[in-house]
Amino acid sequence: MSIKKRTKIREVLISSKFGSEFTLKGWVKTRRGSKKIAFIALNDGSTINNIQIVADITDFPEDLLRQVTTGACISVTGTLTPSMGSGQDVEIKATKIELYGPADPGSYPLQKKGHSLEFLREIAHLRPRTNTFGAILRLRHAMSYAIHKYFNDNGFYYLHTPIITGSDAEGAGEMFRVTTLDMMNPPKNGEGQIDYREDFFGRETNLTVSGQLEGELGALALSDIYTFGPTFRAENSNTPRHLAEFWMIEPEMAFYDINDNMDLAEDFLKYLVVYALENYFEDLQFLNNMYDKDLLSRLNSVINSDFVRITYTEAIDILNTSGVKFEFPTNWGSDLQSEHERYLVEKHFKKAVIITGYPKKIKPFYMKQNEDGKTVRAMDVLFPRIGEIVGGSQREENMQKLESRITELNLPRKDLWWYLDTRRFGSAPHAGFGLGFERMMLFITGMGNIRDVIPFPRTPNNAEF
Ligand code: 4AD
Ligand code: MG
Repeated sequence: MSIKKRTKIREVLISSKFGSEFTLKGWVKTRRGSKKIAFIALNDGSTINNIQIVADITDFPEDLLRQVTTGACISVTGTLTPSMGSGQDVEIKATKIELYGPADPGSYPLQKKGHSLEFLREIAHLRPRTNTFGAILRLRHAMSYAIHKYFNDNGFYYLHTPIITGSDAEGAGEMFRVTTLDMMNPPKNGEGQIDYREDFFGRETNLTVSGQLEGELGALALSDIYTFGPTFRAENSNTPRHLAEFWMIEPEMAFYDINDNMDLAEDFLKYLVVYALENYFEDLQFLNNMYDKDLLSRLNSVINSDFVRITYTEAIDILNTSGVKFEFPTNWGSDLQSEHERYLVEKHFKKAVIITGYPKKIKPFYMKQNEDGKTVRAMDVLFPRIGEIVGGSQREENMQKLESRITELNLPRKDLWWYLDTRRFGSAPHAGFGLGFERMMLFITGMGNIRDVIPFPRTPNNAEF
């Protein structure tokens, strides 16, 4: 690529071409100095580190330097010199400074002092300029890239599944409706109900809660596929681990059973952590030092130990003999809550845990039923500080069993005709899982709130920006 108008700060910081001229562009972090010399810390987002610009005050118009304040955007040309000061190896001795956009010190909200994460959420349009969100956003990019790389290198194809669908893959009814009907005056049918045949798609539609069902169609043709896209859930859970709009990665593999599925999930998750440590260590180190002193050791512990694999029934036994008083019930048949998951991971095993063999009553219709008639081949991967990070299963490939489950759960069979066709024609054993991207980002960054690992969070009562 030959766009060479300027050099990124990341490159200049590792350069040793002393005496050479560079042009840098970025945003001023701080400006300090004496009557003679100004020291400007400049950042362009290419790295957590700033470059120090040294400007001899007599070389520049007074009016220009006065406007070089925190938040202002400038272009600097100058020569690379070894730095006398501590904290950096190199600096730029400025010969030319151009002001693109000033930032009024009286009103620019990101002055030098540290800001709370809560405050930064209110200025999500500016928070990418902070060190913290620079690091998080670079890591978010890194993980996206590593996900595509992992699957590509392992022979998976990226399948684009629809955002607008007519199905509720998870059967939980937590969907955002998509409609162009006039809400004040919707068309009605003979029974006085809204007539969705007159809606844009001629039927009821919603934003997808999961690409899995369409993903299965891909796997039963291409063998190994994955999706990576936004998913939407209208669950009213205002927790640090739930978003209404989140990104999910859903691999789906023909000829995999539940054990193959667990092996893939473990290998994949470890790969992502290794990728971050090997390629974005400075950002991780910054987050470790600023927010979470155990971050790096937790990341290393996940890659260096095997995930524990237990059944739901074993998990219930452990919880019931733990002597701990939990808020939610732990009788066989109850769903595991975050407090249970975190007890198992953080207190009991002190390792990542995969739980299989959940009661079929608490899991979706598509999961493969075990011979006991009570449990399904589900798997949830639980991580320290996060709880559930991955949910998946082997899928029911038997047409009759699948149909009887659809009937039992009273699901709209007519909307699933295409899904059932895969069991009629060339059905195959297959399995898959979903990784919540922001849950992974919570783990990688050590952040405590999911609102801080996505650029513009969507949560109940919040769709600003
Ligand atoms: O466990 P879930 O609901 O599973 C599925 O959607 C399956 N169709 C996946 C599959 O087998 N292909 O969701 C998968 C993961 C969860 O483990 C969690 O990490 C994340 O998605 N997740 C959320 N992340 C943020 N906000 C929410 N509201 C989430 N709901 C689920
Ligand atoms: Mg789940």
